[in-house]
Amino acid sequence: MTAENVALVIGASGGIGAAVARRLLDDNRYSTVFCVSRAATPPSALAATPGLRWLPCSGSPEDIAAVRGELGDDVGRLARVVICSGILHAGDKGPEKSLEQLDPAWMQAVFHANSITPMLWLQALAKGLGRKQHCVIAALSARVGSIGDNRLGGWYSYRASKAALNMLLQTAAVELARRAPASKLIAFHPGTTDTALSRPFQGNVAAGKLFSPDFVAGRLLAVMDAATADGTLSYLDWDGQAITW
Ligand SMILES: NC(=O)c1ccc[n+]([C@@H]2O[C@H](COP(=O)([O-])OP(=O)(O)OC[C@H]3O[C@@H](n4cnc5c(N)ncnc54)[C@H](OP(=O)(O)O)[C@@H]3O)[C@@H](O)[C@H]2O)c1
Repeated sequence: MTAENVALVIGASGGIGAAVARRLLDDNRYSTVFCVSRAATPPSALAATPGLRWLPCSGSPEDIAAVRGELGDDVGRLARVVICSGILHAGDKGPEKSLEQLDPAWMQAVFHANSITPMLWLQALAKGLGRKQHCVIAALSARVGSIGDNRLGGWYSYRASKAALNMLLQTAAVELARRAPASKLIAFHPGTTDTALSRPFQGNVAAGKLFSPDFVAGRLLAVMDAATADGTLSYLDWDGQAITW
């Protein structure tokens, strides 16, 4: 890699997204770190940092297309793309404990944020990736998206949205193996991380098992650095260990 490489973080005002952006900005291998967020301005941890390009985006297809236009030819220099957006709860809605709690509108909202939006970004970027470009793309998935690992049940929409994300990413990996064979896709489980998303559910986390966003960002970027282009999706945890599908 040269300092001409650039990086892109989507969901950059979130707990993990902001920590990933901070580490990328501190890494002199990247000349520019593009940060996409629904927020109009960066959080204080990122503000006024040289190399930062803050790109507000609602996430609508039209806004994604507009941001893609702003990225222009820089897509051909992307070395890292990290998709950190996602929801688990909003307002009085959250993970379901029983079938009776299933609500179609909430299910659609979760699928939209967790499964569809990441793919709209991949769609927007794919065309600009060069055949020789070693672009490592990670999307924040979750271990609860593993079908084989699901023994606890519950959390219907969130689990299913992450399982769907994994399938969508694997399908994209097959396509990118033809179109951008030097690229690599990773579905990443960060472990329980101290952010707004996990805060209502941290009560049962064992001591020492609640990670800081900065620790997780470091693990994720190390996993991405170690990745090789092999035409498949890797489903990996924060320790670089493969998760059963
Ligand atoms: N924290 C954990 O323990 C944990 C565990 C497993 C997996 N994950 C996954 O890690 C990712 C990052 O989560 P986090 O812990 O950093 O949570 P977070 O602090 O709540 O950040 C999530 C970010 O996602 C974006 N977002 C929120 N609602 C959205 C919506 N409706 N549509 C599109 N984007 C939306 C926002 O970014 P902007 O405001 O910048 O747009 C938000 O800040 C998520 O995909 C989550 O599922 C987290």
